[in-house]
Amino acid sequence: MTESVHKILEHGELDDGRVTTVTVGHHTLAVTHHEGRYGCLDNHCPHQGGPLGEGSIEGGKLRCPWHGYDYDPTTGQPPPPFDDAPACYPVEVREDGVYVTLPDEPVRTRTVSDAMVETMMAWGVDTVFGIVGHSNLGFGDAMREAQARGDLSFFGVRHEGAAAFAASGYAKLTGRLAACFGIAGPGSTNLLTGLYDAKVDRAPVLALSGQVPSGTIGRGAFQDLDLEAAFSDVARTSHTVLPGSDHTELMNLACKTALVESDVTHLVFPDEVQIQPSDAPASGPDGRVAPRTSPAPAESLDEAVGLLSAAQRPLIIVGAGARRDMDAIIALAERIGAPVATTFKGKGQISDAHPLGCGVLGRSGTPIASWFMNESDLIVAFGASFANHTGISPYKPIIQIDRDPMALGRFHPVAVGVLGDVGVVAREIDDALPANMPAADRREEVAERWAIWRSEKDARVADDRGKGIGSAAIFRELSEAVDQDAILAVDVGNNTYSFGRYFEVERQQVLMSGYLGSIGFSFPAAMGAWAARTGRQVVSVSGDGGFGQYAMELTTAVKYGMNITHVLVNNGELGKISKEQRSADLDVWQTSLHNPNFADFANNCGARGWSVDDLSELSGALKAALVHDGPTLVDISSDAALV
Ligand code: FES
Repeated sequence: MTESVHKILEHGELDDGRVTTVTVGHHTLAVTHHEGRYGCLDNHCPHQGGPLGEGSIEGGKLRCPWHGYDYDPTTGQPPPPFDDAPACYPVEVREDGVYVTLPDEPVRTRTVSDAMVETMMAWGVDTVFGIVGHSNLGFGDAMREAQARGDLSFFGVRHEGAAAFAASGYAKLTGRLAACFGIAGPGSTNLLTGLYDAKVDRAPVLALSGQVPSGTIGRGAFQDLDLEAAFSDVARTSHTVLPGSDHTELMNLACKTALVESDVTHLVFPDEVQIQPSDAPASGPDGRVAPRTSPAPAESLDEAVGLLSAAQRPLIIVGAGARRDMDAIIALAERIGAPVATTFKGKGQISDAHPLGCGVLGRSGTPIASWFMNESDLIVAFGASFANHTGISPYKPIIQIDRDPMALGRFHPVAVGVLGDVGVVAREIDDALPANMPAADRREEVAERWAIWRSEKDARVADDRGKGIGSAAIFRELSEAVDQDAILAVDVGNNTYSFGRYFEVERQQVLMSGYLGSIGFSFPAAMGAWAARTGRQVVSVSGDGGFGQYAMELTTAVKYGMNITHVLVNNGELGKISKEQRSADLDVWQTSLHNPNFADFANNCGARGWSVDDLSELSGALKAALVHDGPTLVDISSDAALV
């Protein structure tokens, strides 16, 4: 073994009678100065690894701070009868300081964690959000190596809940697999809410948990929780990588399941397994995943084409399940001149500027969409889940197209359920329709309805009770300020309902916590969207209640230079809950919020903040925030009654 000499102290730097910790490369040393002599021991106490450099010198002995074991400060020898001594390194006092001779570090050995990281990267996981800590350091070190090679981006957040929401936002935006990472116990349980968000919205996410050493699992040790049990509901699969496990195959299975099933999967890494040597080859999807295109069964297709051919006023409704198939659906709509409404989760899948686009249907929707639903004689629903929020009328004849057999007729029977890939079936219907369709082209009617709605919106923009800016005005300004292809992550509450109703989309993409409806989603999801590095503008929108949940993540955005603008619709309360309490004839109770000055808060975090109290200032503040290169926040004083 080769050795090298390293300077560890200047003269006079360490007083006589004291001990300190010095790091040289990956060596951590306890350096002592006692009665004019220097000593240098390995910092780890032989008993249980206590930090000797944080101990004290008493009676000529170096005393470990954890349980009081004593060692000679210059030789490391314990007093008799003990014989367990920390490594001791030769010290030399030279003219310019104190030096130590240390063995050179061995070449890094490939570990189980390295093999697992290589495998997940083969499946396309190149972005991980999380927190490194006590029980996941080995896996963290493998990710550090991958990041140093330029293969992986790791984002260290302030709370693991944000890591899971960021991974969910990334996956919802890209359809690719993202990962989140936490320690044993609380670091992993903090991931659960964001993972449920991904699960119920069918976004693929891989959760990675550190764990206590396998020999202590199940014995109630510090941070020892049964993580497989804790994740058994949220994760499609949850496995602990044990010593001797076929670890790369467990990673292959976790990645494949998450992608193929559009679900959450989970792996648990006991502490010592993470750093065991591994020569297991990494592999990926080659030979494990086949292309999937599912055409419609002929009889379902015939029934659907028959109904659509006879309809006079068909309406197409698209949900998030049709997000990646909109070209085929819009081509079909244009062919038959049918209006297209979206679910709230599908907002933006057809532009509001398209002559057949009629916005969102339902509680967060426009009167245009509800008009066409009420006037329709047939609904053709692509990739929509028929949530209450959307309110697709069950009394109309419905053709429902979905790749998930469980989604068909989920809440009530439909006239025709077509099982198949949404884009494939849209093209099949298009090809099978007769040349002359009875339905009239509805473009003019769509334009008329938009004119009526825009006139109503203009009237609402002018509303002013002197208690803040109304939502119609806020989202008109935001519609005009953001890029046409921006990514917007929204939250929950009245601000989000108003966004659905008033914000007019061009080619923007909207991310939301759909079925879980989790408050606090928007800002960490925007972090995930930014990490996908699409080159598009990233904006998040929430109320003050939602932003408050993960406000400290603004420092994460500053740390990584995330160019995100947060639009804060601030009414000083949980406005939707106040409204629900009133509507239930209850007293408004415990919904008020005590807030900081959010613009000052943003500036304090190292971001840029603007406070907007008057509509005349809003456009300028939004534009300034959006062009600023870095995280920004626009705190808008809003009127809780003007939603
Ligand atoms: Fe040092 Fe126990 S760890 S005495």
